[in-house]
Amino acid sequence: MGALELGSPRAAGSLARPFPPTTSRLLTVQDVRRRTLAKALQPHKAVMRSAQDLNDASTALGRSLHRHTATLPTTIPRRELEEYFRAQEIISHYPPQYKKAAVIPLLDLGQRQNKGWTSISVMNYVAKLLEMPPMRVYEVATFYTMFNREPIGEHFVQVCTTTPCMLRGAYDILDTVCTELGGIKPGDTTKDGKFTVIEVECQGACSNAPMLVVGDDFYEDLTPETTKKVLQAFSKGEKPKPGPQSGRHTSENSAGLTALASKPYGPGEHCTPEFS
Ligand code: FES
Repeated sequence: MGALELGSPRAAGSLARPFPPTTSRLLTVQDVRRRTLAKALQPHKAVMRSAQDLNDASTALGRSLHRHTATLPTTIPRRELEEYFRAQEIISHYPPQYKKAAVIPLLDLGQRQNKGWTSISVMNYVAKLLEMPPMRVYEVATFYTMFNREPIGEHFVQVCTTTPCMLRGAYDILDTVCTELGGIKPGDTTKDGKFTVIEVECQGACSNAPMLVVGDDFYEDLTPETTKKVLQAFSKGEKPKPGPQSGRHTSENSAGLTALASKPYGPGEHCTPEFS
């Protein structure tokens, strides 16, 4: 879509009234959308949490854009609105003077919206939203390894190779993953852009070692065979069931009940009337 010159006859009818011309620069569609969003949200300054709030704002937005806007979008996509409100909701968890404390959750949100990686645009946007120097945001994003500074594949596979997993065969799992994905190396992305593999430190699931993570899900108690099955399912567009792949329930003892198997003796069970 093109840009509208402020002061032009077309702009005079549709745009000049809601947005008085303050400059002669070209007004892009993006500018219009940004200003209209800000205007529509004025009555919704309070934190918007419910779907009703969202609908109200969306309706207000639709109304304000409706006049003489044949060449402009009549509404901002619902998804964009939802994401904006989610960011505002996160910010509302912190006192206004400390809103920069929301930098990590907002970077995470931005990364999720940006196909899994934190680009410079994501960092700059977060800096703007939190009114903090961009450099402070870069410092955070480059310190934490969970922010990916390069584009990643559709499925982000992280194989844990820290000691407990290593002792339980993590390197066999890593080799299996790399071989199964066409001989790539940790840090690489497959040619079709479907998988990126990296080696990571402990993910906190040591009792189910060895394990790997795909996206947000843990696949545990792996063997080379079950690892292949998990990857094949993702290749086919399926979502394998996360959790232990050995059949055991969560991290229960795989040998069955071996402790506290007999009836407890007192004091304890019989020391208070309600237990006798
Ligand atoms: S060592 Fe792999 S999850 Fe802890």
